[in-house]
Amino acid sequence: MFSLDSPESYRLYDKSNMLSNILDLPDQIATAYDQLKKFPLPSTYINAKNIVILGMGGSAIGGALVASLAKEARLPIFVHRDYEVPRFVSRESLVIAVSYSGNTEETLTGFIQAAEKGAKIVVATCGGKIGSIATRYKAPVYKINYGAQPRAALGYLFTSVLMFLEKIGQFDIDQDKIRESLLLMKGFRNKIGPQVASSENLAKQIAKNLVNKIPVFIGSGILSDVARRWKTQTNENAKQAAFFETLPEADHNFIVGQENPKDLRNKIWVVFLTSRYDHPRNILRHKITVEILQKANTPYETVMIPIATSPLSEQLLSIYLGDFVSFYLALLNKVDPTEISNINYLKDKLAEKPLEY
Ligand code: PA5
Repeated sequence: MFSLDSPESYRLYDKSNMLSNILDLPDQIATAYDQLKKFPLPSTYINAKNIVILGMGGSAIGGALVASLAKEARLPIFVHRDYEVPRFVSRESLVIAVSYSGNTEETLTGFIQAAEKGAKIVVATCGGKIGSIATRYKAPVYKINYGAQPRAALGYLFTSVLMFLEKIGQFDIDQDKIRESLLLMKGFRNKIGPQVASSENLAKQIAKNLVNKIPVFIGSGILSDVARRWKTQTNENAKQAAFFETLPEADHNFIVGQENPKDLRNKIWVVFLTSRYDHPRNILRHKITVEILQKANTPYETVMIPIATSPLSEQLLSIYLGDFVSFYLALLNKVDPTEISNINYLKDKLAEKPLEY
């Protein structure tokens, strides 16, 4: 029988070694940080009046996470996951186009629209079509050199947006904050990594709870998009249905939907991702929401990462935990965490009717 406590058998399902990319996350951030420190943006970019981050799926989440952290930003930041850019995009906008492959049609379409409107653009990508279109519009490109699935290269995608914002004065980050977060992540890796037995390993324990369940991940504030990341990693790595909610919004609808279907409590498993930086009212809301779930017999668990020392480290540690959970869940589901045949099928079908750029 397959056991999470036998890492030597992981490769039976983890055929493309997703584990190495997950283990690598702190090193990805360190490499990207060093590269991006030296990456220049045109001096006029500092005059932007709003910021729009374009991307889809694994390429959008890094920007969304950074946007939720950027509390001190004086400019509005929008994460845009669609074709048409918002009408307000203009010469005064900074548009950050993120596409790992460089071939995602929504991002390419939005990028060209923004460029035609004269927006200030910067790109993060491995290459693809967006690389050549960026040359056409003379947009600076941060070229990622890392072979993995987009979602497994989060360290590069996250850090690129973080550093672009830092360069235009919208994010206050220094080497010490990054270094401390990475040290914490590496320490955490030693507690939730493959070699740690299930009895001591929070990630393996959560993964076991999620087998045959439909997880609903709930986060607030800086963990709202972490809840989304847990959901998307569960979908893509573990090939499992999963959803996410955010507080306080979930208290205005989700809590009412606990009565049907009648066997709901046998199907869902709620995971609250709680933060020491949560708004005090959301801390209270979490408590009351738990009471409501208890009354409905809806199974749940609450996760908090006590070792975090800053919003940045808490967000990164929470992502890291979720990435490991989704990886272990993939193994328990006996699926290859890397493979995403439905996304590939969909993109191949779309490519039969290609867009012109
Ligand atoms: O996880 C994935 O593979 C997807 O969500 C992709 O990130 C998404 O389809 C967008 O592709 P790209 O990241 O190459 O722009």
